[in-house]
Amino acid sequence: MVQLTLPKNSKIRTGKTWPKPDGGKRLKKFQIYRYNPDDGENPRVDTYFVDLDTCGPMVLDALIKIKTEIDPTLTFRRSCREGICGSCAMNIDGQNHLACIYGIDEVKGDVKIYPLPHMPVVKDLIPDLTHFYAQHASIKPWLETKSAPPAKEWKQSIEDRKKLDGLYECVMCACCSTSCPSYWWNADRYLGPATLLHAYRWIIDSRDEATGERLDELEDPFKLYRCHTIMNCAQTCPKGLNPARAIAEIKKLQVERQV
Ligand code: SF4
Ligand code: SF4
Ligand code: FES
Repeated sequence: MVQLTLPKNSKIRTGKTWPKPDGGKRLKKFQIYRYNPDDGENPRVDTYFVDLDTCGPMVLDALIKIKTEIDPTLTFRRSCREGICGSCAMNIDGQNHLACIYGIDEVKGDVKIYPLPHMPVVKDLIPDLTHFYAQHASIKPWLETKSAPPAKEWKQSIEDRKKLDGLYECVMCACCSTSCPSYWWNADRYLGPATLLHAYRWIIDSRDEATGERLDELEDPFKLYRCHTIMNCAQTCPKGLNPARAIAEIKKLQVERQV
């Protein structure tokens, strides 16, 4: 039998349990992943108690309260607090969510919070998205044109604009890509659901004039075809989008242009 020895730094320690707030009647327990690259220690899970009577309703409200009132070293990203910037993506209760639009009351029992899975961690709940953003940039997420520019603007009919619905709303939170098993194992070469959804958004934009080149770029066993329609991406997207469908549409276009 093969025996595997896990590297020393792969083990998560039990961390500190922080004192309960005085007089709180509706206490909720939060177990939060902590990792500080500067202290040389393995990651740990700290336990905090939040009084729900003095906290906003969303998981991000609790994180902000913990940082403000209990432990200022807790580190996470957030900006808009309304599901638009995509920066507060994290794994809550085993699924990827935007913490600012995920209700504390949606979690039965203790709230377990980890960074997005299978990404290098910068600190605590902050994943390193450098590679994810580079992949996004690689599909040229902007209008590519060859015709002379119009005097005023590139026009689009109402019908053609409608084709972008379900695509343009993506906030690049990475919840989908980091829930995709194919992306976990092949992120170096597979573009993943978020980037492919954006690729499709530009492929079908009626104003874009680089459709052929865009499809050529994606005609690759890894970049596109590592999607095995597992559908985790569509299940987890906090904006209700369906990257798997966009990927299927790109595959269909690849076939259509060959017949
Ligand atoms: S459908 Fe494709 S992109 Fe979505 S989770 Fe599955 S393999 Fe990944
Ligand atoms: S498709 Fe959804 S889950 Fe994926 S990056 Fe966009 S908003 Fe986030
Ligand atoms: S803080 Fe912007 S999406 Fe959550």
